[in-house]
Amino acid sequence: MPRAPFRLLFVCLGNICRSPAAHAVMRSVVEKAGLTAQIEIDSAGTASWHTGKLPDDRMRLAGQARGYTLDHPARQIQAADLAKHDLVLAMDRENLRNILALDRDRRFADKVRLFCEFCTGHEEQEVPDPYYGGPEGFEHVLDLMEDGCQGILREIQAKL
Ligand code: 4NP
Repeated sequence: MPRAPFRLLFVCLGNICRSPAAHAVMRSVVEKAGLTAQIEIDSAGTASWHTGKLPDDRMRLAGQARGYTLDHPARQIQAADLAKHDLVLAMDRENLRNILALDRDRRFADKVRLFCEFCTGHEEQEVPDPYYGGPEGFEHVLDLMEDGCQGILREIQAKL
């Protein structure tokens, strides 16, 4: 019997910039590792403002230029996501606090972590929100994603 897939969830505020970028980069990393059947990827926002919308055009185009397809319709994280997923990655500390606020009985806190914990080539502890800034912010998000997603893959491979 194959084991159940490892379920990974990326979370930011709006689910239209950082977490759909993480989602697309991780999908590419997992495909290249031949682990598509073993690792399930999803993303969500702590806010509901953009529910149903495709990723922000600036993030989508920056991703497309590096070969990533950002096509996830935004959705808001639900408490049930914490039970369902094996690893939940927050882009910043505010996201982390809002995710943990859904975990009233403190059952899932050890699977909720900051994305940047998995970066080895960057010093940042949070993925900066690029929404109100210029194009370099979107490139920086992708640089962090390409670094951290490799670290996440190594962590999951050790558990599969
Ligand atoms: P994200 O970026 O959390 O990376 O998707 C944002 C998207 C939208 C807003 C803020 C951040 N907003 O204020 O609408």
